[in-house]
Amino acid sequence: MSRALTFIDGHPGDQVPVSDRGLQYGDGLFETIAIRRGQPCLWQRHLARLTSGCARLQMPPPERSALAADAGRLLAAAAANDGVLKLTVTRGSGPRGYAPPPSVKPRCILSFTPEGRDSAGGTRADGRLIFCATPLSENPRLAGLKHLNRLEQVLARAEWSDPTILDGLMCNPRGQVICGTMSNLFALDHSGLTTPALTTCGVSGTVRAVLMECAAALGIAVTERPLRPAALYAASGLIITNALRGAVAVGYLGEHRYSPEAVPAALIACVRRRALEPEMPL
Ligand SMILES: Cc1ncc(COP(=O)(O)O)c(C=O)c1O
Repeated sequence: MSRALTFIDGHPGDQVPVSDRGLQYGDGLFETIAIRRGQPCLWQRHLARLTSGCARLQMPPPERSALAADAGRLLAAAAANDGVLKLTVTRGSGPRGYAPPPSVKPRCILSFTPEGRDSAGGTRADGRLIFCATPLSENPRLAGLKHLNRLEQVLARAEWSDPTILDGLMCNPRGQVICGTMSNLFALDHSGLTTPALTTCGVSGTVRAVLMECAAALGIAVTERPLRPAALYAASGLIITNALRGAVAVGYLGEHRYSPEAVPAALIACVRRRALEPEMPL
């Protein structure tokens, strides 16, 4: 198994105090960042989401230049090639109880795990989605954030072990499809692409935004509105996106098969080019 190399607040280490609020309450945020040839992909977008997430959680954001310097040192120390950089920011340590401490020193955990592109990418063209039974709860104050409370995804991901399954789809309590356990979802039909709005739950994916930009550049309309399971079966194609896979055209939803030609290859190529190639060295 590949071993991770971890820096905590800029220093090598793999232990955080029991008093850390990330551990105690899930009080923090994280980013999962693709590393290609030792450099991060979509670094600025990941930092922008992290920074706006910190603002929504009323927590000071980590200093960007210090974070970039720490990430650069970590990737150099790991002699990184392809893999995954996980960046976790917690509200730091505090006394017992939910009340945020008056003075917060966020804790920043950076962890690099080497991975081959296949395991990091998982882009099988015949990949299958399933529906998970675990619902997503709704909370507009948390919607869109990549926060540390991921128990719903943990329970949903425990629903399958077949490695050919790309992801499991999750619905809100009203039965509307929101996302996969680790990806955003787009459905294609004659009017263009539809993706669920993320106003009450779901994670506002970095690659979701990239795909929307690529679609605009290619003249493909994208609408954000509720998607019922029936609309997915009626769609000509489905796409899932995340930072490690870029965009993947889905082969099957359960036993329902989509034509491999349904999703424009130019769209997938555009997303992969923008999302899985480092823009600039750290
Ligand atoms: C629940 C969930 N939704 C969406 C995404 C996609 O986000 P991104 O494109 O930033 O990887 C992820 C990524 O892990 C996720 O866990």
